[in-house]
Amino acid sequence: MIKVWTDGTEAGLLDRSGERGSTFLYLPEIDAARAVSITMPVRLASWDARFGVAPIFEMNLPEGALRERLRLAFAKATGSFDDFDLISIIGRSQMGRNRYTGQKEQLEEDVPFQSVDEILAKRRDGELFRYLIDKFASFSGISGVQPKFLLRDERAFESTNMSDVRLSQSYRGATHIVKFWEANEYPQLAANEYFCLKVAQTCGLEVPRYQLAEDGGALVLDRFDLRLDGSYRGFEDFCVLNAKRTDQKYSGSYETSILKRFEQFANSTNVHEDLEGLFSLIALNCVLRNGDAHLKNFGMVYDDVLGEARLAPVYDLVTTTAYLPKDGMALTLNGTTRWPTAKELQRLGETRTGDTPSRVRQILERIADAISITSAEVHTYIKEHPEFAEIGVRMLAEWERGIALSLRNA
Ligand SMILES: Nc1ncnc2c1ncn2[C@@H]1O[C@H](COP(=O)(O)OP(=O)(O)O)[C@@H](O)[C@H]1O
Ligand SMILES: [Mg+2]
Repeated sequence: MIKVWTDGTEAGLLDRSGERGSTFLYLPEIDAARAVSITMPVRLASWDARFGVAPIFEMNLPEGALRERLRLAFAKATGSFDDFDLISIIGRSQMGRNRYTGQKEQLEEDVPFQSVDEILAKRRDGELFRYLIDKFASFSGISGVQPKFLLRDERAFESTNMSDVRLSQSYRGATHIVKFWEANEYPQLAANEYFCLKVAQTCGLEVPRYQLAEDGGALVLDRFDLRLDGSYRGFEDFCVLNAKRTDQKYSGSYETSILKRFEQFANSTNVHEDLEGLFSLIALNCVLRNGDAHLKNFGMVYDDVLGEARLAPVYDLVTTTAYLPKDGMALTLNGTTRWPTAKELQRLGETRTGDTPSRVRQILERIADAISITSAEVHTYIKEHPEFAEIGVRMLAEWERGIALSLRNA
């Protein structure tokens, strides 16, 4: 049996049930604020899943190389290896505010320390990667297919105007995400993501601090769910908000599964501002030709599960067509996964944000401006890093194509 914690406090118990399912039960008489998800309010009846665990418990389970690594390292003890085993291993260190321990255990995150600067300066020689996977795999309660780790560096918040703030002594959890890439499959993925995030930031969207290793071998991101006092905000991705399993992350539409679902859960005074941001992000994904903008790559954040929920900062932006020229969209728009025309984006913006045509045009124009500014930076980077030239040049061509189809001639 697994004990589930929210905000460092016990919330309920999760257990296997039936042949392949699970059941979750809140502890008696607990506060409504202990809810594990916006979608699962505190109640007397249990929350059951016929297969696997409920989406909120599955949300942070690694999917690719990291999952395989953990399976190899831990499967021996149990013979088989399922989501339940995975949660038991990485449960104490997770994105967002939920944590998992054994039924009788206390919660101790205690993520080992690792200097981010050291990672940024090290060469990509495989040794660093092996060292980090050995040390941090079991602290990396984070989803996704690309190899990545959670680690702790006291120098979080350094780039903000809070630079004189030292995290409180009691903080023990992860502060950063480090993303690597498979050289054979997706060369230069970190630099690709770095420049896509740069476009988003230049558009005025909220992006956590992102740093590219000197040799382009890794991308380091500040956690946007970390608070100054070392505690964590709530985070839920759109798989959870749509009550879908991780393997259903490519099913749904931008209109309903993202925009409409967002409105359903966004009970804040900033709904309109966030809706504009979300529309802008969807349009940006189209222009950058990111074919991986699926349900897990959008999220919402909140301080209080019963209070205001906002659109999460931007993450995981990549020009996928630099590797897969035929790639289409991850979700549908107007019933198709073909890249949209400018007219279609304009209509989407007007319908979903309620903005005037000229305001929507302004939002789309900002994307074109941001791409043109960032393209110049990509050119400069290519000069200094010839190993990025092949992918960089392809990215620039894809962005141009994206602008021509999805931003011009509305
Ligand atoms: N800066 C961040 N702060 C907090 N959570 C994040 C941040 N970036 C990503 N995440 C979470 O980690 C997950 C995996 O990261 P992501 O960049 O999407 O990796 P991948 O490229 O493997 O899909 C995301 O789905 C999201 O839940
Ligand atoms: Mg992702």
